[in-house]
This record gives sequence, C-alpha cells and structure tokens, in this order.
Amino acid sequence: MISVAIDGPAGAGKSTISRIAADKLGFVYVDTGALYRAIGWYVRSLHRDPADAGQVGQSLNGLEIALRYTAAGQRVLVNGTDVSDAIRTPEVSMAASAVSAIPAVRDFLLELQRSMARKQNVIMDGRDIGTVVLPGATLKIFLTASPEDRARRRYEELRQKGQQVAYADVLADLKQRDYQDSHRAVAPLQPAADSVLVDTTGNTLEQSVELLVSTICKKLQIGERSVNEA
Ligand code: DC
Repeated sequence: MISVAIDGPAGAGKSTISRIAADKLGFVYVDTGALYRAIGWYVRSLHRDPADAGQVGQSLNGLEIALRYTAAGQRVLVNGTDVSDAIRTPEVSMAASAVSAIPAVRDFLLELQRSMARKQNVIMDGRDIGTVVLPGATLKIFLTASPEDRARRRYEELRQKGQQVAYADVLADLKQRDYQDSHRAVAPLQPAADSVLVDTTGNTLEQSVELLVSTICKKLQIGERSVNEA
C-alpha cells in the first residue's frame, strides 16, 4: 500500500488540497483532524471540559468513532451519528485542539488511523502522521503557509458558511492553536526529519493542488494517472 503523510498547521489548506490531490491520484483521503474534532464535539455535548484529561478520559469510555466514505467524501460518525458538519465550528476547533493534547485521546485514535492506511492507498492529513501515526509512510510532506495567509483562508471559508467572524479573531485563534499544537508534550506539530516542505503562501487553490500533485508524482515516480490505472 502507498501512504502519503501530510502534516502541517491549521488553515494551510491541507484538507482541501489533499482531498483534491487524492481524487486526482485515486487515493483515499483520510482527514484525521475530523477525528479529534469528533472527540471535541462529543466532550462538549456531554458538558465536560475538553482541557481536563480526567473528564475527557472518562468520556472516551462511551465513545465509538467511525469513518465512512460516501459520494460526499469522508463522513465521521460518533456512536452512529454523522457529526461531519457539526464539527466545523470555531468552538469545536478549540475543543479539538484541547483534547488533542491529551495522551489518552491520541492513543484512542492511533489504531483507527493506522488501520485506514493498511487497507488502501491513502493520503492522510494531520499533525503527527509522518512522525507518529505512519512513521514508515511512503512519502511525508509538511504543508504550510504564512499565518496571515492561513487566517485569511479560514476567515473566507467561515464567512462563506455564513458564520459572522472577524479576521483579527480568526488570526488570533489560529496563532493560539499553532502554539498549542506545536508546544504540547505529546506528538507536537513538527516536520518529520525526512519530510518534504510544500509552502502554499500566495498560491491559489489550483496552484497548491498542482504543487502537491507534482511533488507526490515526482517523489513516488508515478504519473498522475498511473495509480488510478493500476
Ligand atoms: O486539521 P484540523 O483543524 O481539523 O484539526 C483539529 C485539531 O486536531 C487541531 O487543533 C490539531 C488536532 N490534530 C492533531 O493533533 N493531530 C492530528 N493528526 C490531526 C489534528
């Protein structure tokens, strides 16, 4: 199986870019952030504190998370309920960041993520895919962009969804999440030593997809259609 690990900070366009690249290459796209979001959502739904390791640990006992693939893409289920849309709010983003710092949460999700890569060719995106989840990934990419560029994209995305947010708040949230994600004790966000850096600052979505696809094809020495045809 071929696995491409894509790590990088929040808002670098990782998920959108990776999803389109996976489609072009015939890989399954696995968005691992959705798993942390699902746990953040669940802990909030129980009115527990996402930053409290004890409360979060207890919540995991009654929790079953599953990923499903449909024509609408990846769906994430919490105890059988599809929460794919509900997990995309700023509140759940912060909760996801908080729970993702808790070792029990990372352990809980590890096998689920690895099993996805055993079954099929994947492009898996997250924060620790190349460093922890798939240390033997065929190719590791660190996809990033400047904080201002990332905040602008996230801001436009939220506004398009009709959420009333201010750019300054989005930038501040993003910097706080960057700090939390890269300074936590377990699996902090950092490029794997053997990763390839892809910087999308200033790119359009199409340019970023093209850059990612061409990097993958070059490194794996495959043509854009060869995996599909195999
Ligand atoms: O990529 P995202 O914004 O959907 O991720 C949500 C949160 O989950 C983010 O704060 C970092 C965390 N996360 C993680 O710690 N490890 C991963 N592999 C994916 C996401």
